[in-house]
Amino acid sequence: MTNTEQQIKELGNQAKGELAAAQDAHSLEAWRVLYIGRSGQVTAILRGVKNLSEEEKRIVGKEANALRRELEELYQEKQERLHNKISGDRSKILPPPLTPPRAGGENAAGSLHPLPLSMNRIIEIFSAMGFIIADGPEVEEGKYNFDALNIPLDHPARGEGDTFMIDPKSIGGEKDIVLRTQTSPMQIRSVQTMHLNPPFKLIAPGRVFRREKADATHESTFYQFEGLGISEDMSIADFKDIVAEFFSEFFQKDVDVRLRPSYFPFVEPGFEVDMSCVFCRAENALSEHGESKGVGCRICKYTGWIEVMGAGMVHPNVLKNMNIDPKKYQGFAFGGAIDRLTMIQYGITDIRMFWSGDIRFLKQFS
Ligand code: DAH
Repeated sequence: MTNTEQQIKELGNQAKGELAAAQDAHSLEAWRVLYIGRSGQVTAILRGVKNLSEEEKRIVGKEANALRRELEELYQEKQERLHNKISGDRSKILPPPLTPPRAGGENAAGSLHPLPLSMNRIIEIFSAMGFIIADGPEVEEGKYNFDALNIPLDHPARGEGDTFMIDPKSIGGEKDIVLRTQTSPMQIRSVQTMHLNPPFKLIAPGRVFRREKADATHESTFYQFEGLGISEDMSIADFKDIVAEFFSEFFQKDVDVRLRPSYFPFVEPGFEVDMSCVFCRAENALSEHGESKGVGCRICKYTGWIEVMGAGMVHPNVLKNMNIDPKKYQGFAFGGAIDRLTMIQYGITDIRMFWSGDIRFLKQFS
């Protein structure tokens, strides 16, 4: 692929990511002007074609025209969707109830819950590293939650014991519908709905559900963030660098990462990712092999390492389900729990605090 072709692809992915994020007429118009308007970036490439060599004219002209056509179609679709949303039935919307200000005393100011605080941080850090952000449904088709991820029919996670199933009759259909048990379905769904072509890197944060009894470390509702990076030569080393950078930024400490072999049906090879303990190891000298000298602390159970996510190189079957050629492209996928990172960061010892609504807990994050 030539440099210009590569640039066109990247510009396309960026434009599609931003289009997906545009939620009102104003941002949609800003998007149109930026990419396909008269002085837009795609238009500028097309204008420049006449100055290229014959050979380049042919390739670049074709690619840029195809991109413009695709973006115009996506723009039309989005415009219609936004229009329908806005002009929907407004008669049912009630005016907000007004209450008089309280006499005397101060009104307490609200603050963000620690989970969205972390989610915003995660989005900020990955965006700065060139990742686009994808959003998808919490009520998901079994096809995306399991099948497209290469999860075999007899896998225990597919059972009613672990997954909240939706009765198809209750929604008048036949489809196999579940509350998503992980953000991994976003790997395939976002590539399809955002029409992404490699190279690209994305993250998809969101809420997931498991049929579990709550205890100090488990909840039936929690948040995950999924990552996916695909290109012709994306490697495990690239992945390791990216996550080490992410954790260092998130915890504001110099964090190392190590991978341990593990199994997840949608990646091969698969890993468990550990980061160096941000409580003890950061202060300890490292050995010449970069290993902790093993002083450790209670948080890392005296090992110097904390398990933080699952990951691996995307399985060829999953690439095929994204309509990406596994002979030409490869990449990494990862998934971590936002609740867990937030607990580590603030020293929260019981996950149930997040849903407790306890004002004494919440006030500490303002
Ligand atoms: N979806 C897995 C879980 O919920 C986490 C995970 C593991 C995501 C490996 C990945 C991966 O993308 O490659 O436990």
